[in-house]
Amino acid sequence: MSKVIKNAVAKIIETLPAEGSREEKLAALLTEERYAHSVSTAEEAARLAPYYEVDEEKAFTAGLLHDCGKDLSQEDAKALPFPPGFEPDAEELANKALIHAPAGAALAAEVFDVNDPEILSAVRYHITGRSDPASMDFVVMAADCIEPTREFPGAEKLRELATVDPDAAVVAWVLLKVESAARDGRKPHGRSGEMLASLPVPLVALGRRYYKEILSETGG
Ligand SMILES: [Fe+2]
Ligand SMILES: [Fe+2]
Repeated sequence: MSKVIKNAVAKIIETLPAEGSREEKLAALLTEERYAHSVSTAEEAARLAPYYEVDEEKAFTAGLLHDCGKDLSQEDAKALPFPPGFEPDAEELANKALIHAPAGAALAAEVFDVNDPEILSAVRYHITGRSDPASMDFVVMAADCIEPTREFPGAEKLRELATVDPDAAVVAWVLLKVESAARDGRKPHGRSGEMLASLPVPLVALGRRYYKEILSETGG
């Protein structure tokens, strides 16, 4: 590990309570509001775990840590040691909104001693998704958008639709993000399109129907 990378981790660890619990360390890394969102995402992920047939505790951890890199500066986030295979691409390195996912995987490994690839992957891909997403990736993406404290136009409708089909709700969520990027004149991350292309056609069609229901509710 290079000296710069070592320093980036040491600088972050210095700000955390040395003997603190996982939750206390996470709370020190995040704003109060983001910490509440993280706990709520963890609870939602644990609730979804049986549906996706994944380990409940792992789902809780992945949900809890998914945004752990979100309140770092872009500079600090970029300097972290990324676990092999979880390195950010050029687009993520250049975008503060995107870098927090790979940075979160790096912090999960370095600060929270997580080395489970299922958890690291769910944290690393929670914004963009990825081609052939694993069940744990779905769990965290779903929990992130439907947890009860989350507010955005159409959130209530998305929560309601997720009770019928959480997978289709995730597809609708990805479509909402792709559309909002296009509306802001940004190019959506290519991995979101790859995720949609890798999913079964009927699932994407249902997700698109959910997406349209949300738009009609929000006047979009
Ligand atoms: Fe996030
Ligand atoms: Fe989040």
